[in-house]
Formats: sequence, structure tokens, C-alpha cells
Amino acid sequence: SLFKGKSKMIALFVPDIMNPFFPELARAVEDVCNVHHYTFVLCNTDNSIEKELTYLNALQQKSVDGIIIVSSTLKKEHIEEVTVPIIALDRTFGVELSTVKVNNREGAREATEYLKLLGCQCIAHISGPKNASNTEERKQGYLDVVKNDDWFSCNYIVSGNYNLQVAKGVITKLLERHPEIDGLFVANDVMGVGAIKAAEELGINVPNNLSIIGFDGISLGETTSPTLTTIAQPIYKMGSRAAEMLIELIINNDSQKKTEEFSVQLVERQSTRPRG
Ligand code: RIB
Repeated sequence: SLFKGKSKMIALFVPDIMNPFFPELARAVEDVCNVHHYTFVLCNTDNSIEKELTYLNALQQKSVDGIIIVSSTLKKEHIEEVTVPIIALDRTFGVELSTVKVNNREGAREATEYLKLLGCQCIAHISGPKNASNTEERKQGYLDVVKNDDWFSCNYIVSGNYNLQVAKGVITKLLERHPEIDGLFVANDVMGVGAIKAAEELGINVPNNLSIIGFDGISLGETTSPTLTTIAQPIYKMGSRAAEMLIELIINNDSQKKTEEFSVQLVERQSTRPRG
């Protein structure tokens, strides 16, 4: 057909280039592309379906060989029109595709259990954007732990949209309204930075009066004060594995779909501490 690849070019779609998780991921994809002599193209979509469709169309006109997509918005009918191999990375979006991701539910469970282990009794989860698959999975993992457990005197869920400023705003309001909160599980690290800032401005001592745990393991979390405890994803491994899978798909044109799910790892830093 008109759109059938052979430009030796691979594209990666990310929803938010300003979030350091995505440059870390992109770096890994690029490295694998270089090894295999593919040109790497990065497209920032802002979670906008219009931008995604524009890029999909433009890339196919340029005979892109394959695409790795982090998306929450694309639908089956859009993917059906794409004639080159696609891999879903980090998020799924209701289309059956080969996928590389982490076990988000398990990681969220681990984060919440860790807060319990520290002795936190009144905790809150700051969740991601409504339509992202991992928002749901992380929320479920949180609920797996807090639901029907009398240990917890309260629990709250508010959306922070995976965004630092948005999270800082909602966390400030939440902590003002509920000063009894002693633990926060924020669904990504940039919101963890927002949480540390919010607490600081309210005069709440982290970790003495409030423990904060994030999710991602981006290097930004090592530079805050206090440094951010987190559930780390193997970001580089995820990016490089997705690129390898895509190149295999380009070469073999194998229609078998497979999902590779990596596990996450608790990284203990300064933003969490046992209740005194
Ligand atoms: O920080 C960005 C978030 O969006 C990450 O948690 C990642 O998993 C992505 O979906």
C-alpha cells in the first residue's frame, strides 16, 4: 500500500514531554533505534486526540516503519487505519496491541501497604488523569489495601492529573481541610514534588507529620528536600524493550500480540518515616 514503511524511521508518542518520566523513556527508545540504524522521531501529543491523529497521518505519509505509543485517547478505529506495526507502552487504550508496561496495581498496593507499615492511619491517594489506564490500576491497588481495613481511620481519593501544579493545588486544599492526614500516596513523582511543596508551604513537616510516597522513580525525586520515596518503574528497560519488540515486529511482521509486564521496586528515601 501507499503507507508501508521503509524509511528506517521509528516514532514515539508521549503525552507530556515536560514530565521527566517521558524523556527518560524516550532516551531508551532512541538508544535502541541508534543501534539498529533507525532514525528516532519524538512526538509530544499533550493527550490530545487531534495531535495524535495529525502525527499518525504525517508519519505514515513519510513512510515511518513503526510507532511506539503512550496514549489514553486513541480508539480502535484510529489504530485500524494504521498499516505499520504499533507497540503500546506504559498505558493501554482499549485496543489489542503488543504492550510493555509495569504491574501498576501491584505497585500501588505496595505503596499503600508501606504507608500502613509506617503506622499511617489517615491516608489519601492523589490519582492521575481520568482516562489513563494506569490511573485506574493504581487506584485499584490503593483500594485493595484500604477497603475493609479498620486500621485506617479515613481515606480520600482526589485527582491530581499527573501534573505538579494541579496536584499542589488539590493537595493544599485537602491538607487544609483534613489536617489529620498522615500519609499520601501520589500516583506519580512529579505530583510527589507538588505534595512536598504543598506541605512545606502549609508548615507541615515531611516526614515527621506526613509521609509521602510517589510512583515512577524519575531522578527528580532524588533532588527534592526531603528526597522522595517512590515505587520505581524500570523506565529505561521499558523503553528499550518496547523498541526491541517494535523492531522485531517490523522485521518479522508477526501478528501474535504479547504483553510484557515488568515489576516495580520500592525505593525508600527521606519523605517517609515511621509514625512516632
Ligand atoms: O509521570 C507520568 C506518568 O504517566 C507515569 O506514572 C507513567 O506511568 C505515565 O503513564
